[in-house]
Amino acid sequence: MLQPEHHHDDSPPVVGILAEFDGPVTLKAAATGLRQVGYAKFEAYSPYPVHGLYEVMGRKRTTLPRLVLAGGITGCLVALLLQWWTNAIDYPYWISGKPLFSLPANIPITFELLILLGALAAFGGVMVFCNLPQLYHPIFGCVKFRQSSTDTFFLAVDADDPRFDETATADLLRSLGAESSELYRQPRTVKRIPGMIPATAALVAALALLPPLWIAQVRYARKTSPRIHPILDMDFQPKYLPQQYSPLFKDTRDMRPRVAGAVSVDAIIGHVHLLRGEVDSPPADTFPMPVTSEMMLRGRRRYDIFCTTCHGLAGDGDGITSQLAFEREEPKWVKPLSLHDQPVLGQPVGQLYQTITHGIRTMPSYRSQIPVEDRWAIVLYVRALQRSRNATMDDVPGELKKHLKSIEQSDAGIPNAKP
Ligand code: HEC
Repeated sequence: MLQPEHHHDDSPPVVGILAEFDGPVTLKAAATGLRQVGYAKFEAYSPYPVHGLYEVMGRKRTTLPRLVLAGGITGCLVALLLQWWTNAIDYPYWISGKPLFSLPANIPITFELLILLGALAAFGGVMVFCNLPQLYHPIFGCVKFRQSSTDTFFLAVDADDPRFDETATADLLRSLGAESSELYRQPRTVKRIPGMIPATAALVAALALLPPLWIAQVRYARKTSPRIHPILDMDFQPKYLPQQYSPLFKDTRDMRPRVAGAVSVDAIIGHVHLLRGEVDSPPADTFPMPVTSEMMLRGRRRYDIFCTTCHGLAGDGDGITSQLAFEREEPKWVKPLSLHDQPVLGQPVGQLYQTITHGIRTMPSYRSQIPVEDRWAIVLYVRALQRSRNATMDDVPGELKKHLKSIEQSDAGIPNAKP
């Protein structure tokens, strides 16, 4: 949209004079001349840096380096103070007895923040000192000025300068060696940005504010309804994690210290023998209870119920399950061990008890089916079964010995009798 600008006189106000020079030497000489006469507000344009030009124009050194230095020092101090305060003062965190604050550990963040604030100061400084962003300047109205960064040297005297005069300044510039000079003015027409663009930008900015506002509202507002949680995963589980809050206890810790005086069940002295079949940790050689004939009977019945299916009535490992498995040629079936062979024969009773309790290799545990006392009764019966094949004369009661001897003698006559 083009809008005409109205002035009392027809041409728009003069902004300055642009004078063209044929090289850096004349440019520098002209700048020196202008300065000597007393002009202060003028600018030199050259396609490349001209040494000494800055000085003859009477320009002061830029303060940008000092600004960058200040930014860097600020970043450095902020980083150090922040780390010192958070780690050593606000929330002291002991890690392996290391000091709460030490310089080497804090160098990386200090360095990063130093660079960051230094760079931001440089960027912001350039923007401010150069009046950026500036999309248009009246000097762009001079057609020749388009050569300024290519192959032409210019001096532009600002109309704001108190000594400025349209004709006198132009004459002075020509006397200082200018090849030509040209007035440049405010543009006759001003191109305005279409109203749609700022309106859209404002709308987008307003909309962009909504998410952070919404997040802030959600974060700080208290609600009684549970928050919206569309993907549940397994986020809600009725369990406590370490270091969490539990309203159940007075001190609200969910991690509970050990109750004073508590002893684990396994450590009950006197019962280790009964429950684990151990005496001073190796398997027990003795029974934890007095051995009676009722116990033997009970053991036999329990053995017949629980063990015969695999180990057989006499303990030879030829139980009906095993026979069936071999008939069917089950590839994974392991023959139950004969209870009459080594190593079972030499095992202490505690170890037999442990085999029933925990199972062994392919034999399952019978802990849940057989109560502790019954397990010991079965062990007693297994011992009796074993003894039945390995008895000596000493095991035979006195009055039966004579009877036995006669059998032995009569057997002696049979040719294939065992020795
Ligand atoms: C389901 C079949 C099955 C039953 C029932 C069973 N066992 Fe076994 N038992 C086995 C098998 C199989 C082995 C051999 C395990 C191996 O070598 O992998 C075995 C091994 C053993 C051993 C030898 C352990 C060792 O140290 O090598 C003993 C002792 C034993 N059983 C006792 C018993 C007693 C007592 C019962 C009754 C409570 C019982 N078993 C019930 C299948 C059974």
